[in-house]
Amino acid sequence: MYKVVRRDEIVPNVHIIEIEAPGIAEKARPGQFVLIVPDETGERVPFSISDWNVEKGTITIFFLEVGISTSKMARINSGGALYSVSGPLGKPTRIDKFGSIVCGGGCYGIGAVYPIARAMKKAGNTVTTIIEARSAYLIYLEEQLKEVSDKVIVGTADGSRGSKGMVPDVLTELVKNGEKIDRSYFVGCTFMMMNCSNITRPYNIKTLVALNPIMVDGTGMCGCCRVTVGGETKFACVDGPEFDGHKVDWEEMFKRKSIYLENEAMAYQNYRCQESVVGKDI
Ligand code: FES
Repeated sequence: MYKVVRRDEIVPNVHIIEIEAPGIAEKARPGQFVLIVPDETGERVPFSISDWNVEKGTITIFFLEVGISTSKMARINSGGALYSVSGPLGKPTRIDKFGSIVCGGGCYGIGAVYPIARAMKKAGNTVTTIIEARSAYLIYLEEQLKEVSDKVIVGTADGSRGSKGMVPDVLTELVKNGEKIDRSYFVGCTFMMMNCSNITRPYNIKTLVALNPIMVDGTGMCGCCRVTVGGETKFACVDGPEFDGHKVDWEEMFKRKSIYLENEAMAYQNYRCQESVVGKDI
């Protein structure tokens, strides 16, 4: 079991969870992830590592409450425990002095780009971080990102904060205005990552995206996380999760991600029904 040091809903539906996992904290690098099983009947779900503290022996993750596993995690309070946490998994982000970097994050990806922006800044790059949300009240981590970025641009769908629009809209403005971008990183929903890749492609801006397919074992054995990149079959858990966004077969990615949508929706509905009948400890 892995002790939960902190679990808070920081904005509606987005949670921070700090987990005691000294072995993972010691080895974690930007761009890597862990597989969490919330309880003994739970499934294995991947989560990007947002931060780690070697002295405390903890790792920090941001997650959205969207299904059964994340609902279970959202009900664990400080002092509680997770059944299993495996990692760090995946290849770390290549950190080097590239010049001007743009990092874009939405949903859980706001937390996930944080260690990338921090490491890139430390390596001497100029870092512009773009974060998105539907509305101002859903923006989180802005102050922390300002500490590790030269500039943070907030985009909101309703225009209630920063620029009106999401990461792809802000990115479009930047490239149209001739902003020098040597490398870009996008983490968040698949649609956002695909759109950003399409925007940077004509400008030949190196674009890395952290793919988030369904995963099971996380060690390249089950084939569940199969993606096609540049015409080659890759496994996101061991070959990624970062890939060249210009080479990803996005259509296949969307199809594979949606295979269990109906089952997931039904299972979640049943879970919530049971929860309301039995109480929160199911
Ligand atoms: Fe099984 Fe990647 S999760 S091969």
